[in-house]
Amino acid sequence: MKKGLFITFEGIDGCGKTTQARLLAKVLKKAGHEVLLTREPGGTSLGKRLRQLLLNPNSKVCAEAELFLYLADRAQHVREVIAPALKQGRIVISERFADSTVAYQGAGRNLSRKRVEPLNRIATAGLKPNLTFLLNIPLSTAQDRKANHPLPADRLERLEKSFHQRLAWEYRKLAAEEPRRIHLIKAAGSIEQVHQRVMKALFKAYPTLQKGDSPTPSQRSKKK
Ligand code: TMP
Repeated sequence: MKKGLFITFEGIDGCGKTTQARLLAKVLKKAGHEVLLTREPGGTSLGKRLRQLLLNPNSKVCAEAELFLYLADRAQHVREVIAPALKQGRIVISERFADSTVAYQGAGRNLSRKRVEPLNRIATAGLKPNLTFLLNIPLSTAQDRKANHPLPADRLERLEKSFHQRLAWEYRKLAAEEPRRIHLIKAAGSIEQVHQRVMKALFKAYPTLQKGDSPTPSQRSKKK
């Protein structure tokens, strides 16, 4: 039975989710919460190896194999890291989760959401985030940020613009379908401005966190 709070950050490459996830974790820790910051792919030792395979531009991976590798990473991540931490009542913040697979493999790779979703349910064991921050940024801004990044582009970042357009569109569709869970955050502006938008959405959804109390997701999930 889930007791903690599960928060995910989603968005296109270059939307700033690593920075925002780290900042949120830091602020919540400082407020006295038990926080676990993790990511997909790569939140376990198996996942770290899968991440290397998945992001290496020299890997030859067909779309279907790519799908199953991301799902394998998630299956391990949920069972080894996320579910145990939630059971201990911790706040788990993950950079990316199941929505990424719907967006990237379902829409980006054209594997179809209908086929991806049942597989995602096996990988997640039915676990859903309580709250998802979808960092919304124009594709051109995200690509400019990536172009100025010191690290070379990974296997997926190198894909054509239409791939990224399809997944950006799918993300917005997901947010429109589940507005209570997925909060669309305007990700243009300074790091601090975006962080303030994240905090505002978090406190609106979980006012008790503002007072430093423990989250009560079980009460909230009943409202859904
Ligand atoms: P990132 O952690 O730096 O965002 O890189 C992970 C890359 O993997 C990013 O391009 C998105 C992609 N990805 C998928 O295609 N499907 C998934 O299910 C996940 C979790 C990530």
